Amino acid sequence: MGTALEPKQIDTLIEAAKEARQRAYAPYSRFQVGAALLGSDGQVYAGCNIENASFGLTICAERAAVANAIAHGCREFVALAVVAQSDSGLVTPCGACRQVLAEFNPNLPVICSNGTDPVRMLLLNDLLPYRFDFSVPP
Ligand code: THU
Repeated sequence: MGTALEPKQIDTLIEAAKEARQRAYAPYSRFQVGAALLGSDGQVYAGCNIENASFGLTICAERAAVANAIAHGCREFVALAVVAQSDSGLVTPCGACRQVLAEFNPNLPVICSNGTDPVRMLLLNDLLPYRFDFSVPP
């Protein structure tokens, strides 16, 4: 653990997120998102967004990927890739997903790709400093 991500791992994650994105269920927003988590077990756990007629029940791709990993017994995450196509640039996980991801690895590397521009890698702790975890330093 603690070793740098290899370019091949990054590519694999982005590909898995792209593939999952194709399975997005997004009839309302038409905004398709794919996500893929690399587990410390070496496996890749992907997810896509799942919308609902009752909009607030929508599940983001990132949280779908977390649910996939947890259901397979993996709770330790090495990196996440998120793929979406936005005119205004790269998509980062929403606030709710940041909190859910931080539960398992507050400093998770988050790779953002729109399939065209160069990817960006951000750290979850920069995206969500002071996450809720019952213990804010005084
Ligand atoms: N969405 C995600 O799946 N992940 C994000 O990081 C941002 C938003 C989904 C939720 C909804 O289905 C659609 O994108 C538009 O917000």
